[in-house]
Amino acid sequence: MNAHQAVTQGEPVVVDRAGKPKLPGTDVMVRFAGVTKTYPHRRGKPGVEALCDVDLEIGRGAITGIIGRSGAGKSSLVRLINGLEKPSGGRVVVDGREISRLTGADLRLAQRSIGMIFQHFNLLSSRTAAQNIALPLEIAGWSRTDIARRVGQLLALVDIADKRDRYPSELSGGQKQRVGIARALATRPDVLLSDEATSALDPQTTRSILDLLSTINRELGVTIVLITHEMSVVRQLARDVVVIDAGRIVERGEVADIFTAPKHPTTQAFLGEVLGEAVPLSLANRLQPAPVAGGQAVLRVAVRGAVAADTVVARLSRALDADVALLAARIDEIGGRHVGSLIVGVPAARAEQALAQLAQSRIEGEHLGYVA
Ligand SMILES: Nc1ncnc2c1ncn2[C@@H]1O[C@H](COP(=O)(O)OP(=O)(O)OP(=O)(O)O)[C@@H](O)[C@H]1O
Ligand SMILES: [Mg+2]
Repeated sequence: MNAHQAVTQGEPVVVDRAGKPKLPGTDVMVRFAGVTKTYPHRRGKPGVEALCDVDLEIGRGAITGIIGRSGAGKSSLVRLINGLEKPSGGRVVVDGREISRLTGADLRLAQRSIGMIFQHFNLLSSRTAAQNIALPLEIAGWSRTDIARRVGQLLALVDIADKRDRYPSELSGGQKQRVGIARALATRPDVLLSDEATSALDPQTTRSILDLLSTINRELGVTIVLITHEMSVVRQLARDVVVIDAGRIVERGEVADIFTAPKHPTTQAFLGEVLGEAVPLSLANRLQPAPVAGGQAVLRVAVRGAVAADTVVARLSRALDADVALLAARIDEIGGRHVGSLIVGVPAARAEQALAQLAQSRIEGEHLGYVA
């Protein structure tokens, strides 16, 4: 997305945004090779292995979601990308530079092309919105006129031009995060790291901030690394997703693929949260472990893209030659594919047969219990 074509004597040469020729393999913006991060033991507490042998590639111009539970190692991973932490082993390469080996002025220069936004915004309370955004430019030694012009552009970009002279205490959470985004983009970074940037916001404000990040990715070509513990955030924004658990990558791929066929239990648990269990409370309360005379067996049928949700009930009914009741359903569309589950009722004595039938069609089914 960063790349455009420059024509030299009929031969197209791909160049990056700075006009440098793009080398083969440079479609990777961030690369981890065998990265381990161990925090040393302190005052009797044992050391912590936050990341273990992580190999990772984050595509240039992409939005990549990194999801994991609290303590999984997400923040450690972002701090390695921007060089705030050094790995205990392995290499971290950002835009072709091995950031894990840079120090001093070289590191600070490299960090200018990596912006970061935070859950709690990290704004200076004694500075106005405009002054917060100006800070990285002051540090980079820009002139006052250049700073004024750039801050004006950034305020417009994040749509808070009218709040330029407000202090953080006078801004809503969403407005504060817009200031944080403008500040992160001030030095025109190629990469934007977002560490739980929407976790403190309500769903509607989250949506507007995610829309803004999407626009920034699309229009400025900025590579975005989105750290989150919420699958809904990944789903709304990211193309690729990496699932980490206890310091290790347990699953990765395109969002649509992972959502339709999650393999690791951690991924499945995250998806359960976002897709919902689909069993209405009134039904869950009536479920019994043993068959009830004349009652129904209740099954959950997974809908995972390949199966068109609308044909499952009809096909099952035909195969069993019995009525199949649709008791509840929750279907989402992700990357153009259907994902979710159906809750169906079949005659109590036919539960095993129904499950076998689903298995034969390679559809996941689960027997939840019985109702009268
Ligand atoms: N500076 C540090 N010193 C010692 N241990 C640390 C340090 N930073 C993180 N850890 C430990 O490393 C592990 C991973 O922490 P990390 O902050 O990367 O997780 P996380 O996925 O960002 O969690 P959360 O969702 O709660 O922010 C945890 O066990 C944590 O206690
Ligand atoms: Mg964290």
